[in-house]
Amino acid sequence: MGLFSRSAPTVASPESSKVSVVGSPTPETSARLVPVPPRSSIVAPPPPTERQIYLNQLKVRIHQQLVERLDMQGMRALAPEVVRQEVRQLIRELCQSEKGLLSSQEQERLMDEVMDETFGLGPLETLLKDPTVSDIMINKFDRVYVERRGRIELSDVRFRDNAHLRQIIDRIVGAVGRRIDETQPMCDARLADGSRVNAIIPPLALDGPAMSIRRFGSKPLQLEDLIRHGAFPPAVMDFLAAAVQARCNIIISGGTGSGKTTLLNCLSRYIPAEERVITIEDAAELQLQQPHVVRLETRPPNTEGRGEVTARDLVKNCLRMRPDRVIIGECRGAETLDMLQAMNTGHDGSMTTIHANNPRDAMSRLEVMVSMAGFDIPPKALRTQVASAVNLIIQANRLVGGKRKVTRVTEICGMEGDNVQMHDLFTFEQKGVDEDGHAVGHFICTGIRPKCADRIEHRGIRLPADLFARRVMDSPHN
Ligand SMILES: Nc1ncnc2c1ncn2[C@@H]1O[C@H](COP(=O)(O)OP(=O)(O)OP(=O)(O)O)[C@@H](O)[C@H]1O
Ligand SMILES: [Mg+2]
Repeated sequence: MGLFSRSAPTVASPESSKVSVVGSPTPETSARLVPVPPRSSIVAPPPPTERQIYLNQLKVRIHQQLVERLDMQGMRALAPEVVRQEVRQLIRELCQSEKGLLSSQEQERLMDEVMDETFGLGPLETLLKDPTVSDIMINKFDRVYVERRGRIELSDVRFRDNAHLRQIIDRIVGAVGRRIDETQPMCDARLADGSRVNAIIPPLALDGPAMSIRRFGSKPLQLEDLIRHGAFPPAVMDFLAAAVQARCNIIISGGTGSGKTTLLNCLSRYIPAEERVITIEDAAELQLQQPHVVRLETRPPNTEGRGEVTARDLVKNCLRMRPDRVIIGECRGAETLDMLQAMNTGHDGSMTTIHANNPRDAMSRLEVMVSMAGFDIPPKALRTQVASAVNLIIQANRLVGGKRKVTRVTEICGMEGDNVQMHDLFTFEQKGVDEDGHAVGHFICTGIRPKCADRIEHRGIRLPADLFARRVMDSPHN
C-alpha cells in the first residue's frame, strides 16, 4: 500500500491516538525525546499595525456616537430590516465625517464591523460566517483559536479588552435567559444557529473571561458527509441504520470533540417518523429531523441556589410523557440509572453519548455513573443491569491530524460470570500517518454476526448477505 510504504514511525492504536508521533525519527533524535516546536499555525499573529489600531479606535468612537444618536424608542415600532438599513445609513454618515482618512474599502469594512457590534456578536461574527470554522476557543480577549478541517489555528480575531469580551458573553447568555456573574461564573448557552456555548469568567477563569463555541452551523453534517470524510464505511452505516430502526439501545462513546453528538444527530434520522422522541440536554444542540419530538433542557440553580432542574429530574419526568424513545445528549451522572431503567422497560431504541476512551471503559463509566444515584446496588447486579440495557457501543475518536472516525462498533452480549461480554463487529486499525500528518489505516469487519442481527431481521429489515463477512472494508480516505 503506497500510503504505508513511507516509514511510519509508530502504529498508534486508535485508542492511544492522543500520542501522536509525526515524522521519522532521525538517528540523533530517536534515542531521546526532543521538544516539539510549535506548529506555525499556532504561533502568535504579528501585533496590530498603527493603521489597525487607528481603525479600531475609530470603530469604538463611531459605535459610541451611534449609540448616542439612536432613537431606541422610535426604532421599536419599525421592522427589523428597516432598522438595519437606517442604522447602516447612520454609520455611513458617521464614517463620512472621517472622510479623506478612510479608503472606501476600509469604510465598508468598518460599517460591517459596527453593524456586527450593534446587532450581532462583534468580532465573533466574522468567524461565525466562515463555514470552515467548527470550533471557536477564546482563551483571552486577544487569543482566539479556531478549528478548521480538524486543525487548530490561532486566529487574528481579537476583542478590544476583557470588558468587550464580557459584553459579548452577556449578550449570548442573556439571549437564552441565563446569566453569568461573579456568583455564578460559568454558564452553558447556545447561539441562534444551534451552536453550543460555554462561558467562564473570573474568579474561576484566571486570565479574564473565556468562551468555547462548538459550531454545527445552519447545515449540520449528515451521514453522507461523514462517509465522504471517511468517518466509517457505507456498510457500517447500513448496519447502524438498521440497528436504530430495530430499536437497539445505543451508547456513543468518545473523547471531547470526537464527533459523538454529530453521530447521534445523524443516526436519529433512522428513527421512524411515527415514534415519539424526547430529547434531554444540558444545552440543546441536537437537531433531530423527526416530526414527533419534544426537546427538554436542564436548568441551573438561580442566585439563591434554587430552581435547579437536573437531567435526572427530566428523565424521570419524561417517562410520564409517553416517549417511545429517550435521547440524552450526554450522560454525566445519576440520570444514567433512570436512562438504563428506561432502556430496560419498554423505551428501547434509546440513545446517549458518554465520555470514554473505549467500549470497555464506557461500560465501567456507566456503572460508576449509576452508582452516583446513591442506591446501594450490589456491583454484580449493577453490572448486569448495565449489560442487559445496552446493545451497542459506537466508539468515536479524533485521530492524529484531526480526522474523526468511528474506531469500533461493539456489541454487548450479556454477562459471563462477573464480566460483561462484548465483541467488536467493526474496527478501524490505524497504520500510521500520511504526509499531511493525518491518521491512515483500514476499517475491518471482524466477521462476527451480531446477536442483534436476528432482532433486526425479525423487524423485517433486510441486511446485505455479506454485511458481516470478515474483510478489510472500502471507505473513502482510509
Ligand atoms: N466525521 C467528522 N468529520 C469532520 N468533522 C466532524 C466529524 N464529526 C464531527 N465533526 C465536527 O467536529 C466537531 C465536534 O463534533 P461533536 O460536537 O459531535 O463532538 P462531541 O464528541 O459531541 O464533542 P463534546 O465532547 O464536546 O460534546 C463539530 O464541529 C463537528 O461538526
Ligand atoms: Mg457532544
